[in-house]
Amino acid sequence: MKSIIIYESTHHGNTKKLVDAIAEKYNVETLSIEKAAVTDLSGYDMIGLAAGIAFGKFYRRMEEFAAQIRSGSRVFLLYTCGNPGDGYVKSITRTLESNGAKVLGNYGCKGYDTFGPFKLVGGIAKGHPTEEEITGAVEFYDKIRKF
Ligand SMILES: Cc1cc2nc3c(=O)[nH]c(=O)nc-3n(C[C@H](O)[C@H](O)[C@H](O)COP(=O)(O)O)c2cc1C
Repeated sequence: MKSIIIYESTHHGNTKKLVDAIAEKYNVETLSIEKAAVTDLSGYDMIGLAAGIAFGKFYRRMEEFAAQIRSGSRVFLLYTCGNPGDGYVKSITRTLESNGAKVLGNYGCKGYDTFGPFKLVGGIAKGHPTEEEITGAVEFYDKIRKF
C-alpha cells in the first residue's frame, strides 16, 4: 500500500511530530504543503492531510489544497490545536466529500499554542503533543490503514 502525508505545521512543528512518528513506524512518505502542489498524488492508496488549526479550521493553505484532491481518493486527517473543540475537521471534510473523496477518519490532539494573547501568558497547551498523544496518532494510523 502506498501512503503519503502532506503536512503544514508552521506554528511550533506540533503536527509534524505526529506525522514523523507515523512515518518512523510505517512505510509512509511525507511532504510539506509547499511541495505538494507540484506532486502527482494519483499513485497513492491513502493520502493524509495534517495541519494545525487556525480560526476553527485547518490552516488555510491546507483547506485550499484539499479542494484539489481527486474524486475516489482515500483521505485521513491529522491536526493539533490549542483548545480542542468540535468541528475543526468540518470544513475540510465537506470540501473533500463534495469532490468525491472518502474521508477515512481523523485524529486531533492539543498542540502548544502561543498565538495572539496566549503569548502573553506563556502560551497554552504547553508540552503538547505529549508522548501519549503522539502514540495515539500512530495507533490511529494503524487502525485506518486496515480499512
Ligand atoms: C493564527 C493562529 C490561529 C489559531 N487558531 C486556533 C483555533 O481557532 N483553535 C485552536 O484550538 N487553536 C488555534 N491555534 C493554535 C494552533 O492550532 C496550535 O498551536 C497547533 O498545535 C499548531 O500546530 P503546528 O505547530 O503544527 O503549526 C491557532 C494558532 C495560530 C498561529
